[in-house]
Amino acid sequence: MSRNRIDKIPATEITPKSVHDDRRDFIRKLGVGLIGGIAASSGLFQDASATSSDRQKITSYRKSSYGHEETTTPYEDITSYNNFYEFGTSKSDPAASASRLITMPWTISIEGQVRKPKILGFDDLLRLAPLEERIYRMRCVEGWSMVIPWIGLPLADLIKWAEPTGNAKFVEFVSLDNPAMMPGQNLHVLDWPYTEGLRMDEAMHPLTILAVGLYGEVLPKQNGAPVRLVVPWKYGFKGIKSIVKIRFTEHMPVSSWMKANPREYGFYSNVNPSVDHPRWSQATERRIGDGLFAKRRKTMLFNGYAEQVGQMYSGMDMRKYF
Ligand code: MTE
Repeated sequence: MSRNRIDKIPATEITPKSVHDDRRDFIRKLGVGLIGGIAASSGLFQDASATSSDRQKITSYRKSSYGHEETTTPYEDITSYNNFYEFGTSKSDPAASASRLITMPWTISIEGQVRKPKILGFDDLLRLAPLEERIYRMRCVEGWSMVIPWIGLPLADLIKWAEPTGNAKFVEFVSLDNPAMMPGQNLHVLDWPYTEGLRMDEAMHPLTILAVGLYGEVLPKQNGAPVRLVVPWKYGFKGIKSIVKIRFTEHMPVSSWMKANPREYGFYSNVNPSVDHPRWSQATERRIGDGLFAKRRKTMLFNGYAEQVGQMYSGMDMRKYF
C-alpha cells in the first residue's frame, strides 16, 4: 500500500455528532490560520503575516480536572524562555525567529508497525478526541520548572486510531526537518531532525498528551506549533515539538539527545531528584516566575506524578535506566 495514501476519515465516523460539531466550530474559529495555510499550499499567499505575537483563541475545549492547585507560570515567561534548538540554542532565540515556521497546512505521517500507514492532517487530528486543558508541572533537565495550562488531546486516542500491530513496542516521534524555516538546523548541535521516543505503555498513559494550545490559545510557534508532545513526569526534552512523523517500532528508538550524549541522556529521562545528571544535581529546581532570588524548590519523584505513573517502572533500576 502506498505510504502516501491520504486516509480521509469522515469525522462523523469517529466522534459523536455533538462533539464533531463543537470541533468544527473550533476549526472554523481557527479560521485565520487555516485559510492562511490553505492559501499557502496553493501558492497564492505565504503565511508571512503570522508572527510569534499572533494570538488566536481556542474557543472549544473542556476545562481540566488536573492541576488547579498550582499557580500557573505567566504566559510571557512560557513563550519567551524556550528550548527549541532548530531556532538557536539561546532561550530567547525561538521567540525571536520561530515566526518563519509555516504551520498550516500540517500533516503527521503515521508509519511503521501499523495496519495501514496514514497521513493525518492537522484538522483530522482535532477530530480524534475533544480538546481538554491540562495544567501540568514541567521540569527541564537544566534545573528550571514551569506550570503550563496546555490544551491538547490524549496521545492514546491517536494510537488507537492508528491501529498499531502487536509488534509495536515503542513510539518514535520526529520533528520537522527544514533548515530554510529553521535556521538552527544549519548548525550541527544535534543530529537533525529532532527525534524522541516513548515505550508503548508510556505513550498510552492518560497523562501523555499531544498539545495544540496553551492558556486557551493556539500553541505559539516557539512552543512547538502546531502540535507537540507533553509528558509531564519526564524531563522537558522528551516533549518534542512541531511533530511531523510518528513511527511505531519494535525496538527502542534512539533519540537525538541519546545520540548526542548517551552518558548524560537516557531513553527514560523520568524526573528523579535522587538520580543526578552527570554534571549537576537534580534535587532542586528554580520555578520560573518565582523571581531570581526565590528559594529553589525540591524536585519531586516523577515530577509529582508518582501516584499515576510509578507503577510502570516498579522493579526497574532507575539509575541504570535513567
Ligand atoms: N523539540 C524540538 N523539536 N527541538 C528542541 O530543541 N527542546 C526540548 C523540548 N522539545 C526541543 C524540543 C527541551 S530541551 C525542552 S526543555 C522543551 O522542549 C521546552 O519546551 P518549551 O520551550 O515549550 O518550554
